[in-house]
Amino acid sequence: GTTLGASAAESGRYFGTAVAANKLSDSTYVGILNREFTMVTPENEMKIDATEPNQGQFSYGNGDRIVSHAKGQGMRVRGHTLAWHSQQPGWMQNMSGSALRSAMLNHVTQVATHYKGQLYAWDVVNEAFADGGGGGRRDSNLQRTGNDWIEAAFRAARAADPDTKLCYNDYNTDDWGQAKTQAVYSMVRDFKSRGVPIDCVGFQSHFNNNSPVPSNYQTTLSSFAALGVDVQITELDIEGSGSTQAALYQRVVQACMAVARCNGITVWGIRDSDSWRSSGTPLLFDGSGNKKAAYTSALNALNSG
Ligand code: G3I
Repeated sequence: GTTLGASAAESGRYFGTAVAANKLSDSTYVGILNREFTMVTPENEMKIDATEPNQGQFSYGNGDRIVSHAKGQGMRVRGHTLAWHSQQPGWMQNMSGSALRSAMLNHVTQVATHYKGQLYAWDVVNEAFADGGGGGRRDSNLQRTGNDWIEAAFRAARAADPDTKLCYNDYNTDDWGQAKTQAVYSMVRDFKSRGVPIDCVGFQSHFNNNSPVPSNYQTTLSSFAALGVDVQITELDIEGSGSTQAALYQRVVQACMAVARCNGITVWGIRDSDSWRSSGTPLLFDGSGNKKAAYTSALNALNSG
């Protein structure tokens, strides 16, 4: 193939990007988006603060705009995200206990119902595990409603939208030797053994000097896949430049291509200037929209897989 999306499709995979609704009027941005990508993740527009800014008042305009653009181009959409400790609207930040549990489940139900049948997958729960060596859950208002909040969210999502894949998504879960990776693995194994509805695990894969591409990345992907879930690289960016960065992109794409159930890769933005990182050059296109060396190595890895 001659584009990321077409090359990924040759092995039945997708290649996606995060999209910001307010950039859909930027013709350079949209030109690259429409040419290269087959999956879209709204970068902020489906988060809790965006979709339920006041309790019980739902706001879907920007999310719908992205879905509509994607559909018009034959792209699919990963919904991001129904339940998360961050980007909660003020009203939710101040809630706790059974009131928060009900509000969270209502949010999951309402938003999943609005998008029913329109999305490829949902990141149902995002970033629920703690960093560091403890292997525990992240402390948050949602976690304090009870350890079963994650499975409750997945069950509510399945009930509202039975045909969309339901994913757990996190970062720093790429290194098979890390306690956080093992903790998420144990949860997914437990969910599969008890019939809690989960279809996929997303590895955000935000890599930099402090969080390098681990040598056992492929082992992590294949170990999760062996539990009977799809695995997806959901928010890829790699700090660096030139041939060093290109080689790292190649390794990440090769790792996914080597795992049958790694069925898609999403980069977290199009041009370096679109990245959430305030400085640096972690993406596949430069600020002017030119293809970088990292683009070519990612494309070649898709084509040789
Ligand atoms: O929209 C407001 C704007 O009205 C306001 O003037 C401006 C001033 O700060 O803020 C704008 O909102 C910002 C929003 O991005 C849209 O640009 C928020 O401050 C900013 O915090 C928010 O950052 C997002 C971040 O998640 C928040 O947690 C990034 O765009 C987004 O890329 C990033 O994405 C996360 C994933 O969801 C989960 N994994 C990690 C990843 C990177 O942090």
